[in-house]
Amino acid sequence: MTEKNRATIPSRSPRASGPAPEGSVRLQKIIATTGLASRRKAEELIASGHVTVNGKVVTELGTKVDPERDHVKVDGKHLTTVQPFVYLMLNKPKHVMSTLDDPGGRTTVKDFLHGVSVRVFPVGRLDFDSEGLMLLTNNGDLAQALLHPRYHVPKTYLIKVKGVLTDDEIAELQQGVNLEDGMTSPATVKKIRKAEANSWVEITIHEGRKHQVKRMLETVGHPVIKLTRVKMGPLMLGGLGSGEFRFLTDREANALREVVEQRRTLVQEGKDPGVRPPRPKRRAGWAKPGKTKRYVPKKARRVA
Ligand code: URA
Repeated sequence: MTEKNRATIPSRSPRASGPAPEGSVRLQKIIATTGLASRRKAEELIASGHVTVNGKVVTELGTKVDPERDHVKVDGKHLTTVQPFVYLMLNKPKHVMSTLDDPGGRTTVKDFLHGVSVRVFPVGRLDFDSEGLMLLTNNGDLAQALLHPRYHVPKTYLIKVKGVLTDDEIAELQQGVNLEDGMTSPATVKKIRKAEANSWVEITIHEGRKHQVKRMLETVGHPVIKLTRVKMGPLMLGGLGSGEFRFLTDREANALREVVEQRRTLVQEGKDPGVRPPRPKRRAGWAKPGKTKRYVPKKARRVA
């Protein structure tokens, strides 16, 4: 920030206190919603004097500005020049390609994004016959980081398998199974429900190998019948209907950015953001048939 910049007299003053006019928004929120930085990073930028409002350096975090009228700059650049990022979550149905187009003419995720005019692309894949949470965004850096194997962003799947998994098989899945492309890293497995011929488990993995969950279960002798991704990092599928999409809340988008920033920092510091080893075996039993409520994932929290 130059002295020249600091000396500029603003035509209108941003407000740190007192009644703010309708439509005014906290400075850190405006910066974060452009996708330039997470809310926390935006606060750091403000506090360290990188942000001007109407030409004047503003370091007070509570400052409110009117996005329609005030000119906000970060390091001398207008925020409006930054392409806003868009994040949305789709509940991909079965028998849909998780790509944007398919040379074979099959239905793709794009066919479900009615009214979305921004070009977003899927972050990762789900098999044709898998369903559940897919994140789509135009934020390429974030997408790349979320998929980076060293960042170990956890993904949780609700799975129906053939037969009933034994405790030893569950322990094997948790510790790592030997696939043709190497050992899997530690996973978390939670028993959900069992019937006579099938059972339901929830598995959290920190890798993204092709058909990984299906191959892991096949290895312990329980082919997958149905696979639904219910969680990805801080995002939860919640009650989103099959084939429906919704935009992420600010809180969710910020949580995603925080995850990536935290992991990036750890990697830069030479630390492993890591896969936690499975917790000591909890001998939790299966829910009893007939006495169980249907599995309902926790609802994603919405912010008004
Ligand atoms: N693992 C699989 O085997 N399939 C998926 O679609 C996702 C994870």
